[in-house]
Amino acid sequence: MKAAVLTELNKPLEIRDDVGLVDIGPGEVHVKLVSSGVCHSDVSAQNGTIPVGTPCVLGHEGAGIIQEVGPGVSEVKAGDPVIISFTPACRNCKSCLRGESYLCQSLGPMFTPHFVIDGNPVMGMTGCGTFAEELILPESAVVKVDDDIPLGLVSLIGCGVTTGVGAAINTAKVTPGSSVVVFGAGGVGISAIQGARIAGAAEILAVDLVDSKLNMAKQFGATHVCKPEDLEGLKTEITGGEGFDYALECIGNPVTIRATYDAVRRGGTAVIVGVGRMEQKIEFSAFELFYGDKTLRGSMYGSANVRTFMPKLLRLWKAGKLDLENMVSQRIKLDEVNEAFRAMQEGEVIRSVIDFA
Ligand code: APR
Ligand code: ZN
Repeated sequence: MKAAVLTELNKPLEIRDDVGLVDIGPGEVHVKLVSSGVCHSDVSAQNGTIPVGTPCVLGHEGAGIIQEVGPGVSEVKAGDPVIISFTPACRNCKSCLRGESYLCQSLGPMFTPHFVIDGNPVMGMTGCGTFAEELILPESAVVKVDDDIPLGLVSLIGCGVTTGVGAAINTAKVTPGSSVVVFGAGGVGISAIQGARIAGAAEILAVDLVDSKLNMAKQFGATHVCKPEDLEGLKTEITGGEGFDYALECIGNPVTIRATYDAVRRGGTAVIVGVGRMEQKIEFSAFELFYGDKTLRGSMYGSANVRTFMPKLLRLWKAGKLDLENMVSQRIKLDEVNEAFRAMQEGEVIRSVIDFA
């Protein structure tokens, strides 16, 4: 089958048509992809921000149909439509038992190669690898959806939408009438803006470098938009200078992470959604951390327990409260994934979605 493979860091993905799958094992499912979103984290894997071994089949935002299930699989069957979750939960570790399944790290399958190239086992990104026509996953890495759900669209829920909406609703816990600033209006940032709108924020400021992104942000619920250099003026206009109740960083840049902390009022909440590099540092003064009384939190996968949160997102979409359609800037074929990486890095698209049919 066809798959887009990272063979060397900082090199274009190789589109191969000789990629195989390992045999399906106990507790595993075989999924045929219908669509896959192209997320910035895929670019971050290509450039080494997110560590992956090579070769690696990239892609982690997908939806498809179960072809076959391995022994012991009870929750899904062949023919079921599913969204792929890139953090399969074991349900037994301390994180899962605390209700924080998005922090589960105990699943061996995450680290088990499911692809075969030239006779050698090959990993998929985050244990997935949705830039492939088919893949093998642990049962808990799929969330079954209703038969009428359009799988060409809801792959976005597999990463960006759950991450962004979840960061606003589950991590920041945005409250009605509050003020919110979102840094970065890509797939994740637009989702965070939608999450803040759904949560009832009174003002939502989107900050981005690219004018077209700022215009898009308004369609998704931003009440104000600005370039980074105009942030202080908008902060004064919207909050009287005090700072925002909530700030969400959806870029993964140390400068904007620092700006996210600075943008919130004393007692406010700054959430880091973007993924920066391991070696990058951010400086805080010892005094300001005490005096600000701020909450500074990371957000993994929107702090979402996907089995309950993804169905909720689908209901919000059905109710017309979550716009997925307009997040899809272009539909592409797997062969065009390198071009989609370029378009994303140039700020030209919110999401490119690969159609496998
Ligand atoms: N200031 C303001 N905006 C910026 C800056 C900056 N310094 N640098 C980049 N941006 C904007 C880009 O113009 C783009 O609109 O941030 C947005 C990032 O969007 P995408 O590239 O579409 O990335 P996305 O898929 O949304 O992911 C964002 O979240 O999950 C993580 O790994 C992911 O770190 C990445 C982040
Ligand atoms: Zn992603």
